[in-house]
Amino acid sequence: MSPLSTASPAHTADLVVFGGTGDLSMRKLLPALYHSDREGRLSPETRVIAMSRGGLTDADFRGKVDAEVRDQVPMDDPALWQRFLGRLHHVSVDVGGPESGADKSGWSALSRLLAGYEQRDRVFYLASPPRTFGPFCRELDEAGLVTPRSRVVLEKPLGHDLPSAQRINDEVGAIFEERQIFRIDHYLGKETVQNLLVLRFANAFLEPIWNSLWIDHVQITAAETVGTPGRRGYYDHAGALRDMVQNHLLQLLTLTAMEPPARNDREAIRDEKVKVLQALRPITGTEVARFTVRGQYTEAEGLPGYLDEPASTPPTEASQRVETFTAIRAEIKNWRWAGVPFYLRTGKRMPYRRSEIVVQFKDVPHSIFPGGSPNRLVLRLQPEEGIELHIMAKEPGAGEVTLKPVPLSLNFGKTFTARVPEAYERLLMDVLAGNPTLFMRRDEVEAAWRWIDPILSAWEASADLPEPYPAGTTGPAGAHELLGRSGRAWHEEEEL
Ligand code: BG6
Repeated sequence: MSPLSTASPAHTADLVVFGGTGDLSMRKLLPALYHSDREGRLSPETRVIAMSRGGLTDADFRGKVDAEVRDQVPMDDPALWQRFLGRLHHVSVDVGGPESGADKSGWSALSRLLAGYEQRDRVFYLASPPRTFGPFCRELDEAGLVTPRSRVVLEKPLGHDLPSAQRINDEVGAIFEERQIFRIDHYLGKETVQNLLVLRFANAFLEPIWNSLWIDHVQITAAETVGTPGRRGYYDHAGALRDMVQNHLLQLLTLTAMEPPARNDREAIRDEKVKVLQALRPITGTEVARFTVRGQYTEAEGLPGYLDEPASTPPTEASQRVETFTAIRAEIKNWRWAGVPFYLRTGKRMPYRRSEIVVQFKDVPHSIFPGGSPNRLVLRLQPEEGIELHIMAKEPGAGEVTLKPVPLSLNFGKTFTARVPEAYERLLMDVLAGNPTLFMRRDEVEAAWRWIDPILSAWEASADLPEPYPAGTTGPAGAHELLGRSGRAWHEEEEL
């Protein structure tokens, strides 16, 4: 089995999804499971048991999935779809909080459904709020449902700072062993993210130049066009730093910066990633204002501002202070990366949806041609997953030599005919196969929070509000200055 990810048919499993009728389940998990089923990667007896407050019967739930998921998946084989629906069950529990004196009958119903299947793999997928993680694990334990073949999947956010993440890890860790805990970060399931490891460690030419001698800086961007309609309740307390940087962007940074793993086993990759997080230079106190930028989008071009987005409650002081954009200049204190800034950036309501890692090489030491520009490697996660190496070439013509940067590109969709699976599809298969490589270990999550927390504290202590940026633009002026003061620019600024 490849240590990176697993695609072979999984053992028979019972997959119990808390929050099973929620958005994540209906938009990501169930479509991903159906794709796997179509491609023969689910064992015929595998069942999916949705837990929710819904009070639904199995038939109601199957009807709901038929109505809401059918349009998201290929419908070329109605018999297969019916077979998939037949795998689905529903159990009602008070998903809001088992400690709140809630009705326990749901747990007995789950026990009855699982009884006699103790030899199967059992996966408890907690797609519920993080405050429920500990209590649910305790309930599962008290109901005697945690077998040696059980695993638990924790959705983000894993806490809102280091102490809360530690508390959740302790609570879950009191019931499940670390090898049974799968902390999901769906960015790790994206095709290009895994290709980054293959590019780096299955090709010999990059490694000698993958360091501060050759690389000027790295940019990691996750830009989204969407705003936060209907999400204010969550987003006011999260913000871009917790929602995107603590997890997705730092994961991309670790994979870009990690040392080649010494051994070909599951823990080796995670060991190297943790070392990168531990080597991040802390940004504290007055440095926070110099090395970080926060912004909030305002109404423009017919698009609402953050404070005007539809929400069930009116904006509060927390809404005014929350960042929908952030940019950070990070540094990794080790031999390979000393002096190479890693610029991280993410924002809502930007002009394009684009997630990419841009590795900017240094310029030639001495140029004999006018007008060259340094090489750049772009790893695009979305849209159009692919890799581009920008090199200098001579523009054809008989006159003077004119240089032009041109991309050597690999577009996965065009080069490979195989369907590019959704991130959740791969990650769910890995959970079912018990392969934790693409999941975050406890020390990784906590190291990430340890770096994030001082930035959060400085922002909270500051009287300043996030810098406004008009919806549909590339973020506040501060983000451009962050690179501009060292004569650098964001990738797309140079393209324009
Ligand atoms: C989620 C965040 O983790 O990732 C969302 O909570 C964000 O705010 C989403 O929109 C982005 O994921 P993707 O795969 O669309 O880049």
